[in-house]
Amino acid sequence: MTRRRIAAANWKMNTTPGEGAALATQLAEATFDSEMIVAVPATHLDRIGQVFKNQQNIKLAAQNVWYEPKGAYTGEISTAMLLDCGVSYVLVGHSERRQIFGEDSDLLVKKMNAAFEAGLDVIYCCGEPLDARDANQQQYYVNGQLTRELATLPFEYLDRLIIAYEPIWAIGTGRTASPEQAQEMHASIRLFLETTFGAVTAQKTPILYGGSVKPANAKMIFAQADVDGGLVGGASLQSDSFVEIANSFSS
Ligand code: 13P
Repeated sequence: MTRRRIAAANWKMNTTPGEGAALATQLAEATFDSEMIVAVPATHLDRIGQVFKNQQNIKLAAQNVWYEPKGAYTGEISTAMLLDCGVSYVLVGHSERRQIFGEDSDLLVKKMNAAFEAGLDVIYCCGEPLDARDANQQQYYVNGQLTRELATLPFEYLDRLIIAYEPIWAIGTGRTASPEQAQEMHASIRLFLETTFGAVTAQKTPILYGGSVKPANAKMIFAQADVDGGLVGGASLQSDSFVEIANSFSS
């Protein structure tokens, strides 16, 4: 089975709407040979949805969603609002949402189910903190996240799931997991998928690596057997470096 090859950008809380529209336009005009997914701040969604409207290989992602369809949830954004802006994907479970905003497994499951039910695809993020890695407990830690948050996912949603493994100690630190460390964890995540959902789901679910991916290291990481692409923060804020990353898959 040929796997998808995905370069996903997470702009986090960077760029103004104007700067974001300019960056999105540069991406839309670029040439690359993978799927591109771009997660932008909520204030940019409507405008960049227009920029990506007729693009085959670039899809728009939101960085957050609320699980109720509407109502008294000040500051939150519904699935219908995202869909109306042209959003196809939503990030759920990013370590910054977990650590800074206290999102727990119960909330993540509700968000994922609401997103899938509305027709959005989900990029589900997992990954261990430094103390778990230092104690060599990283597989145990990530397996716990997957068991709590993915194991109960209805079967019908599985073909719209992308997993991003992002070791917290490698995010924004310049310290990347080695290609071997990434491969080891990706293989372990694929094994979880196989035991929980079967071999077909395990083979076709894209598993992305995130954490200080740069043009200089993307080729080595993407060359690993179980790495299907990257979720890129800092290096996605310049179109040339992100396009170079998107062109780092071996042919
Ligand atoms: P950096 O690429 O800046 O380390 O961020 C990774 C990340 O958190 C993407 O979601």
